[in-house]
Order: sequence, then C-alpha cells, then structure tokens
Amino acid sequence: MNIGIDKIGFYTPHLYVDMNKLAVARDIEPEKFTVGIGQEKMAIPPITQDPVTLAANAALGILNEADKEKIDFVIFGTESGIDNSKSAGVYVHNLLGLNPHARTVEMKQACYGATAGIQLAKGHIALNPESKVLVIGSDIARYGLNTPGESTQGAGAVAMVISANPRIMVLEEHSAYFTNDIMDFWRPIYSDKAFVDGKFSNEQYIYFFSKVWEQYKEKSGLELKDFEAICYHLPYTKMGLKALRTILDEGTEEDNERLVANYQVSTQYNRNVGNIYTGSLYLSLLSLLELNEGLEAGSRVGLYSYGSGAVGEFFTGILQSDYREHLHINDHKHLFDSRMEVTVPEYEKLFEETLPVDGSTLELDITKDTAAICLSGVEDNKRLYVRK
Ligand code: CAA
Repeated sequence: MNIGIDKIGFYTPHLYVDMNKLAVARDIEPEKFTVGIGQEKMAIPPITQDPVTLAANAALGILNEADKEKIDFVIFGTESGIDNSKSAGVYVHNLLGLNPHARTVEMKQACYGATAGIQLAKGHIALNPESKVLVIGSDIARYGLNTPGESTQGAGAVAMVISANPRIMVLEEHSAYFTNDIMDFWRPIYSDKAFVDGKFSNEQYIYFFSKVWEQYKEKSGLELKDFEAICYHLPYTKMGLKALRTILDEGTEEDNERLVANYQVSTQYNRNVGNIYTGSLYLSLLSLLELNEGLEAGSRVGLYSYGSGAVGEFFTGILQSDYREHLHINDHKHLFDSRMEVTVPEYEKLFEETLPVDGSTLELDITKDTAAICLSGVEDNKRLYVRK
C-alpha cells in the first residue's frame, strides 16, 4: 500500500526581524548571519501566538470537511509544548473541529518529534487504510537575547495529512535511524530557553547524518545519483549544506550541481523564518516543492531528520503526478508577503513579554494579530484560545 503526505500546510507569525539589523545591533558583521549562518529574516511570535495556535493556523488552511471527519489520529510534535501533562494536540483538535473519535498525543524528542509522528502515522494507516492522520510540528525557538544561538531562533508550524494513496509524496519502505545519549542541546523543564553546546551540536548533527546515510544506503541499495534532492532539518540554512558537502564526492559533477541547486531552493522558506525545530525539515521540503517548478513527478527526495539529545533518521519519498496542484503555493506566498518588520528594540520587547505563572488573569489584545486562531488570555492557570 502506498502511504505518505497527502496535504502539507504552514504557518508563521506575521512579524519578523531583519538579520542585517539584528547583526548591527549586536555589533556583528551582517555577513556572519546572512552568509555564515545563512539567515535573512527571523520570525517573531507576538504573545498571542504559542505552539498551539501556530499549529492550528497551519492546519486550518489545508483541511476540508472530509479530512476533519476522516482524521482519527492527531500527532503533535513539539519541544516547546505548553503543558507537561496535557497534549497540545487536544487543543488543536478542538480548535479545528475534528471528529471526536480520534486519538491525540504529543511527541517529544527535540526536533525529531514530527518525524516520529510520520512513522507512527504510516503504521496506523497500514492497519487502517481508510484513516487519515494529522501530523504537526510546531515550535518557538528561544535561546535568549545576545546569546550565540539568538540568530538561529524562529517560530512556526507545519501540518501534514498522512494517508493511503497520497497526492503529494509516497514515503518509501526503507528508513535508517540512530540514537545516542548526548548533551548537545536541551531545555530543562524549569527553563523557557534552550541550553546548547553549539559547536558540539554541529558536529553531532553531521556525525548522525553519516550514520543514517550509510545505513540507509546499505538497507536500500540506493546511491547519491538516485536522489533528485535531499532536504535537511535546518536549525540554520548553512547547517544542512555542511552535511550535504560530506557526501558530494560520492556523485558526479552533474549530481552535485543538481543536489546543491535543489538544496538552495529547499532553504528559501527556512532562511526567512528561522529554526522552527520539529517543523524545520518539513518547511524545507515545502520550500523545495513550492519553489522549484521544474521538479518532476517520480523524483526521489531524501529527508534527514535530527533531534538533539539525540535521534537522527534518514528516509525518502517519491513525488506523485500532479503533486503541485495539491500544494498551497499562493497562500504561503501571501503569508510571506503580508508579514511586517519589527525593529530590534520592538523584537526585544516582544521576546521579554511572558504569560503569568502565578495563577493571575491576563487578557490579551488579539486585534493586532492577523492570525485566525490566537491566544486570548490566561485565567486560573488555563490558556484561552479563540478562533476569530
Ligand atoms: N562573513 C561570512 N561568514 C562569517 C563571518 C563573516 N563576516 N563571520 C563568521 N562567519 C561564519 C563562520 O566562519 C562560520 O562558518 P562555518 O561554520 O562554515 O565555519 C559561521 O559564520 C558561524 O560562525 P561561528 O561558528 O563563529 O558562530 P557562533 O559560534 O557564534 O554560533 C552556532 C554558531 C554555534 C550555530 C550558534 O548559532 C548556536 O549555538 N546555535 C544553536 C545551536 C544549533 O543550531 N546547532 C545546530 C545543530 S543542533 C540541531 O540541529 C538541533 C536544533 O535544531 C537546535
């Protein structure tokens, strides 16, 4: 049975900061951020957006009534969840008006959560071919003002419908994965900002890639030449390029040109959003599919997922005929085009705004937030959401 991605949608908040201006404010050469890190714009979430609303807004644009009826499993990948007990997916299930006869869970393993969700969804569809599964990766990446990680922050969500006979991409049989207990990036429960051993995390990302790439080739019998493109988890857009470069000597000049050109296309959305952790790999896939008009049906795309701590996985998909007709290219173009720039001081103010943690009530002004689904306040330690 063919199982894979039937629909894919994306949401990022309506505010961003220009990386050139952030660099100047931090007394850093702008090229370090735009070339060395490879980021142009960083999405800034207003206080009225959290991982729940980002996820719900991403899914809202792609689901029709039939999907809402057929979805019987919601898998919410996140590493910036809002509750240590209740799944963020349950809020999203309600905000989207999904069929109550559904399972809903939250998956956590750093940026790998949505990939684990996709693999779980594959198994579910294999047993229940009529079902559809909603898999979401939604996060807000926070390292802190004036930290080395600051230039790699971001916010957004990718929502995917996984089904039998998918219209966008069939996921192939083979997959290679690798786990090792390391401390490259982590966020203790008491902290709203991540801790990171930056250089070590870069090294481990590449080491895990080499492990799963070698195992994938052994399992599948495929080689570099068999790939039209490889998409990477993108904490920042230079990172995936570093990993890609480690395998280019396995291909011809033509293979290298194709893979590097497609890599550049696959980083465009991420370059203008920043790291969205669980959704980053799928935002890169979306960027490739929506922006490379010449990518033919039948092409094989490799996907490298990396979640610090750490778990890595490499798997592949085949593009389906007329897949472009099932993308939401214009909606995503509009989303990017309608964003508003904030100054560095405005971004710093937004970054410092936090929700009460002492049980007090807070009512938020949602009129300035252009999103359909917003956080409207907090009362009795409960977050309140509205769908406008
Ligand atoms: N012009 C052009 N390039 C410049 C430059 C200039 N003026 N100045 C510096 N650069 C280049 C450097 O040469 C370097 O390039 P290479 O890596 O290719 O050598 C690049 O800019 C970055 O410079 P530094 O290494 O000095 O940067 P840094 O140490 O200040 O910070 C970082 C980089 C460690 C990635 C930091 O941003 C960080 O800690 N980020 C968060 C962690 C992270 O994203 N890790 C990635 C792997 S972990 C993962 O993938 C999971 C996840 O999502 C977090």
